[in-house]
Amino acid sequence: MTGSLLQLTSSPPHQQLTVTVPAEGVALTGKIQVPGDKSISHRALMLGAIAQGETRIQGLLLGEDPRSTAKCFQAMGVNVSNLEDEWVTVQGVGLGNLQEPADVLDAGNSGTTLRLMLGLLASHPDRFFTVTGDGSLRSRPMGRVITPLQQMGATIWGRQGNRLAPLAVQGQALKPTHYYSPIASAQVKSCVLLAGLLTDGATTVTEPSLSRDHSERMLQAFGADLTVDQANCTVTVNGPATLTGQTVIVPGDISSAAFWLVGAAIIPGSELVIENVGINPTRTGVLEALQAMNADITLENERLVTGEPVADLRVRYSQLRGATFSGDLIPRMIDEIPILAVAALFAEGPTVIKDAAELRVKESDRLAVMAAELNRLGANVTELPDGLEIPGGLSTLQGTTVDSFTDHRIGMSLAIAALRAQGTTTVQRAEAAAISYPTFLATLEHVCHH
Ligand code: S3P
Repeated sequence: MTGSLLQLTSSPPHQQLTVTVPAEGVALTGKIQVPGDKSISHRALMLGAIAQGETRIQGLLLGEDPRSTAKCFQAMGVNVSNLEDEWVTVQGVGLGNLQEPADVLDAGNSGTTLRLMLGLLASHPDRFFTVTGDGSLRSRPMGRVITPLQQMGATIWGRQGNRLAPLAVQGQALKPTHYYSPIASAQVKSCVLLAGLLTDGATTVTEPSLSRDHSERMLQAFGADLTVDQANCTVTVNGPATLTGQTVIVPGDISSAAFWLVGAAIIPGSELVIENVGINPTRTGVLEALQAMNADITLENERLVTGEPVADLRVRYSQLRGATFSGDLIPRMIDEIPILAVAALFAEGPTVIKDAAELRVKESDRLAVMAAELNRLGANVTELPDGLEIPGGLSTLQGTTVDSFTDHRIGMSLAIAALRAQGTTTVQRAEAAAISYPTFLATLEHVCHH
């Protein structure tokens, strides 16, 4: 526990987190759990909604993003129990039985909600839908899912030539397609597969390298006729499908665990055990990257829980080394690159991250924002068109005021960076953490010792 190390002040609608590191520094120690995986939480709610019968979900992430998914499907007539329940239940209406919502569906900050849901809406016969989101989501590219859906015959209108939300969708029967996605994106892949559920025949997606495969695993568990050709990054769903409600136990989110993996790896004297973390191989790029940087991370108690591999992760401080990351590894650690950049500051030698231009269209432009905010703290990060160059070799940062730009992962990355800054660091708009990790601050308080 920390005394005055952390302070949260409110100036509605925003909150500032102030981190004051004592001269002797802090260490992160203890045994913790992280909240449920965001990707799996969205998918459990969505597949539960369109399946026949009841789906029971344990460990659902109570962040703002899955709450947006739950609200959208409730607005289409799906009965979802209290999200705070130990077991959340979803009474599936069956494929093709969503009700036409009486108002605009609001996906909030959540790209996964909007993009995955769009596949279901566009293929849904005889219903009209309008969908929107917050300022960040309304600026994020939707053409990447509208293009394949149009290839299937979908009718979708959106701002700026059908590229931006708000969107209007006239649901109708679609025709199957083989879509070759130009980007490795689980949201694009999942959108097309979900559209394929109600579509007669074989709908296939091929991506340039493998993105997270939670949709494929869960669709198979719910009974969809789905074939995966992983070597060729190709998935086919045969529609029309019948899905049956299932039990889903959501593992801890490795993207949330990443903040603690890096925190403990860069702060001398630290040792953390993070229990019950999902280690699906399409998500473990951050483990491989940190291990390549000489991080001391071990996996314990590996097991399979409702179709997803899970382990406890033990991480101890060690002197990191710089490394270069690019290619197929990038989609497997796409959400962890901001916190990996923090790790790289304290490594011996430079770290270069390439092929990560996708970060420019996340909840914020994560390349621009991370470079600017880390440099405010005294780093010397260079923004590349598709990545970051981080010289490494720092022993400390200088506390100052930085901003999350309302991006949850930026806010939490900066809070971890602040633990290795001298003096006081203020993270503005720190409330963004609640999108994916509402208990981040409580855990930070719990593991920080000085
Ligand atoms: C997600 C896929 C990724 C990831 C996002 C969640 C998902 O996005 O960044 O946080 O649940 O499918 P892209 O598919 O755009 O890469």
